Amino acid sequence: MYPATPDEWHGVLIELGADTTFGHAAVSTSSSASHTTFHITWPDGATTPLRLHQPPKGNAMPLSPAVENALVTLEQLDEQFGTQYPDDCTVDGVYPLRVAAFGEPEGGNTEWTTGFVPGMFWVAGDLTGDQQWFDAGRRHLPSFIDRIERKVHVNHHDVGFLYSLSCVPAWRHDKNEQARDAALAAADELMSRVLPKVGIIQSWGDLDDPAQAGRAIIDSLMNMPLLYWATEVTGDESYAVAARRHASLLGKSIVRDDDTTHHTFHWDPETGVPVRGTTAQGHSDTSTWARGQAWGVYGFALNYLHTGDPELLAVAERCARRFLDLLPEDSVPFWDMIFTDGSDEPRDSSAGAIAVCGLNDLAAITGKTEYQEAADRILDSLEANYATTAEGPENCLLLHGVYAKHGGRGIDEGNLWGDYYYMEALQRRQDPTWLSYSHPTA
Ligand code: GLY
Repeated sequence: MYPATPDEWHGVLIELGADTTFGHAAVSTSSSASHTTFHITWPDGATTPLRLHQPPKGNAMPLSPAVENALVTLEQLDEQFGTQYPDDCTVDGVYPLRVAAFGEPEGGNTEWTTGFVPGMFWVAGDLTGDQQWFDAGRRHLPSFIDRIERKVHVNHHDVGFLYSLSCVPAWRHDKNEQARDAALAAADELMSRVLPKVGIIQSWGDLDDPAQAGRAIIDSLMNMPLLYWATEVTGDESYAVAARRHASLLGKSIVRDDDTTHHTFHWDPETGVPVRGTTAQGHSDTSTWARGQAWGVYGFALNYLHTGDPELLAVAERCARRFLDLLPEDSVPFWDMIFTDGSDEPRDSSAGAIAVCGLNDLAAITGKTEYQEAADRILDSLEANYATTAEGPENCLLLHGVYAKHGGRGIDEGNLWGDYYYMEALQRRQDPTWLSYSHPTA
């Protein structure tokens, strides 16, 4: 039987200590809502903090040390930022407050990454069954409702990431109608970017911006679940039809014949003819940006789960096999897959975390054990070599990611999406039956 209270835990430690060094050590405890720390003072005066979370509710498995560490760091993030937002990525492993932008003050809800904050809290709630985390997720709702109402920096495809992880969970858990309406408004914003002559949803910029017109990026696959969800909730098929058409067109053009991927692809906005692949964040137009390939693995798998379209599954598997072929020895990719063992270039741990989630899905869909084994190898490496220990000043969960190498942003740093998908990967390991907020519910 798992001890349920700090006192019971204390009893276990003391009992253990009867025949061990604990017998000679003083043990004191301090507790917060989610965890108890046993401060063990040894005879020579040295102290060891031993941190134990309350046992998970609704989940028979004790939490792994990696999960324990992640939860401690998440709790610090919640305490530190409250309903403000950290920046997209860390500086020396520490998230600063988000910079003022788009008319919003410092800490405001801007850019594409803020949804990952409540997203991590909702996942932590599912993982532990602890109300503390669901409440933390709920505290961010007003900000997301306000953001879509005032249309603060929502003229891009990433409203999918933002609202799938903030308002959709509140609808799924609480049937919160304001959250549902905000997420539907975000879905409508995404629908306003459909280019009817092409069939894609334009990712960036104004629809008449010559540099962006007719362009979609591989990350966009991850934004489609908001549209499938909108169909689930409203019964209006047009959302799901648009999402499926978009994913299908990407499958035909953004994946190269050798199963690597372009970061972005351009179609002629008037004729719909596929024109060329380019990159924005990769090393070059012909190389394979690691996070893009990982978005392909998870994104095509998710779109398959929503549509049952076998072509989307086939393309997800092509992306996965190529991703795995290009991994270095420690199973976590360099930021661009043109780089291999021996290179001084930084890794992108976030690409590893995203791929773990996609590979888990592919293993479940196909029953192929090699996908699960690969997911396990990558996650083992992330836990052992890239995760923070919750002991240092770092307030991210995963170190060694890259946001934009050419842009000089977040190089060899933590970032919010890496943290979110690492959290998702930990939860999937803890409970392989768990469905993410981007999965279909039926
Ligand atoms: N979706 C933007 C990125 O992956 O950097």
